[in-house]
Amino acid sequence: MTQVTRRAFLWMLLGAPTALALSACSQLEQAMEGVQQTQSAPATSPAAVALLPTPACGDDDDPTPPQGAGPFYTPNSPLRDSLIEADTVGTRLMILGSVVTTACQPIAGAMLDWWHADDSGQYDNVGYRFRGHQFADEQGRFQLETIVPGLYPGRTRHLHVRVQAPNQAPLTTQVYFPDVPENDGDFLFDPALIMDTTDQPDGGRRSAFTFVLSV
Ligand SMILES: [Fe+2]
Repeated sequence: MTQVTRRAFLWMLLGAPTALALSACSQLEQAMEGVQQTQSAPATSPAAVALLPTPACGDDDDPTPPQGAGPFYTPNSPLRDSLIEADTVGTRLMILGSVVTTACQPIAGAMLDWWHADDSGQYDNVGYRFRGHQFADEQGRFQLETIVPGLYPGRTRHLHVRVQAPNQAPLTTQVYFPDVPENDGDFLFDPALIMDTTDQPDGGRRSAFTFVLSV
């Protein structure tokens, strides 16, 4: 397991609050999020600029676990490193990360196709608000500027992402935040997918995550 994973597991042991009761609606939503799959977006754009140093990888990194795409994926999202728009509300979030192989080799040009709910827990299923794809740089690094997604029934805070090495099948998964009470009531939640997250002086949050692909 990665260092982040171990920390996440420790958090689960020490800090997870009592699970919330799930409504029938919540269970349906979770089921939909867990099982539905959709088509991948095209990989047609240049590498994103990222600022992370080369990640420190151990020799025992497990592949990032897959999770369902859910019902809200829209193909052909715009190419962009920021999902912030002029009227965006919500807690600013910067995700810094890398895409590597199980041998800890960076995957240059890996595509990351993101989608998530807005601050009130709503998905834009008409346009592309909080949807976008980007490409890792030559060292497999990426950064995404967005907001912390809101909650919606049955789900804790999460972002969906499809990560695809060039000419390989995509990994579809979701990433989560530490210390969110709703984590414990969401059966899709996986502590291996918690981003290492810190609060920033400006009120925003910064997260880090390394995607490990089986390529
Ligand atoms: Fe979702």
